[in-house]
Amino acid sequence: MTDPIEDTVVLPDPSVLAGLDHWRTLPIKQQPSWPDAAAVARASAEIATLPPLVFAGEVDILRERLASAASGNAFVLQGGDCAETFAGATAEQIRNRVKTLLQMAVVLTYGASTPVIKMGRMAGQFAKPRSSGEETRGEVTLPAYRGDIVNGFDFTPESRTADPQRLVKAYHTSASTLNLVRAFTQGGFADLREVHSWNRGFARNPANARYELLARDIDRAIRFMEAAGADFDELKRVEFYTAHEGLLMDYERPMTRIDSRTGMPVNTSAHFLWIGERTRDLDGAHVDYFSRVRNPIGVKLGPSTTPDVMERLIDKLDPDREPGRLTFIARMGAGKVRDALPPLLDAIQSFDATPLWISDPMHGNGLTTPMGYKTRRFDDVVDEVKGFFEAHRVVGTHPGGIHIELTGDDVTECLGGSEQIDEATLATRYESLCDPRLNHMQSLELAFLVAEELAAAQQPAAR
Ligand code: PEP
Ligand code: CO
Repeated sequence: MTDPIEDTVVLPDPSVLAGLDHWRTLPIKQQPSWPDAAAVARASAEIATLPPLVFAGEVDILRERLASAASGNAFVLQGGDCAETFAGATAEQIRNRVKTLLQMAVVLTYGASTPVIKMGRMAGQFAKPRSSGEETRGEVTLPAYRGDIVNGFDFTPESRTADPQRLVKAYHTSASTLNLVRAFTQGGFADLREVHSWNRGFARNPANARYELLARDIDRAIRFMEAAGADFDELKRVEFYTAHEGLLMDYERPMTRIDSRTGMPVNTSAHFLWIGERTRDLDGAHVDYFSRVRNPIGVKLGPSTTPDVMERLIDKLDPDREPGRLTFIARMGAGKVRDALPPLLDAIQSFDATPLWISDPMHGNGLTTPMGYKTRRFDDVVDEVKGFFEAHRVVGTHPGGIHIELTGDDVTECLGGSEQIDEATLATRYESLCDPRLNHMQSLELAFLVAEELAAAQQPAAR
């Protein structure tokens, strides 16, 4: 008997397979110098035999969801650590982060009556681009920390030496993180009737109190609908997608598989991958590789981006102008977004493209305190988000989402917010190994502010 599944397997075109390795011939940035090339090849080969973390069908659904956000009918919430760590992949930390994202999503959905596409910078956000390949402390210079997938944070030669076994560990840590995320989001924890319980365990504060009121409203609405006999299957589970920066090619390439339904390559390390501001060179390895996989792809755009570069990125990454395929993640800085973004939004109209626009109000707003802490001001984050909405309002395009570095824990890494974290307070609980994250309360506060912007954006323009 013929196997009905075998019958449907579409083999890839040989040129598609060959193209997947074309990046190896191109200039590449931000890769570690591995001391032992053969050991890297062995680790990559091992990863290539391991099961996919996400499935092509899920990736296709996400592309559709993102298409609806690009046309103004949904909003994307992307958030999580700047750099995940192996030690931080605990049940408690993962749960707190998922809870925070679910709370933010509820605030946005309820506040702006808009479907929210939830995506974690999670289950694979382990590789970091660095401004310098080395770090010097006193007399000692060592390789920079490039994320747990490459080397250790401790400032010793052993720890800072790139270790290919970390590639394999990153896969397994991503798998266990994703397993828990799937359990939390599919297994009852994300049921909207639990909306109150996501808020437990945190100090009372204005955002918390405001959330309680909103949760009470949602409860009442649900009880009313239940009494009226409505069936609530949709409320029990949420779709939750994973995303990370597609940076480390010794990991991304072996996670690439051929979708047997289409014969096309899919990167199965995450649903959504973005190319960072430092690696988006038009003729570089990253843009070439990501142009060949079917995942929805993001590209970070900083304030120096010209319309010409943007057009060429669109031509390379989304030549067919496929809805949901391409997302631009604008990270301009609060002081620049109102000048830098509108010309890009204007230009896009003549390129016959409708990418999704997401605001990353984190990476253009870094500063270092006199004490040496890398931080961001909550007010700058809010200001950049407002500038992002303003720019879209002026040009008449859709503000499609936000991209936030956050944690579900009560860390003190960003200044301000209603808890008024000041420079002296930063030292109390600063845990990030890379960029400073909004803590749970600041994230929730931001969600309320974004919900207001989003609700206003959906009002017909005042005449
Ligand atoms: C990041 O998202 O952590 C990052 C490094 O961003 P960017 O590429 O925008 O600097
Ligand atoms: Co970061």
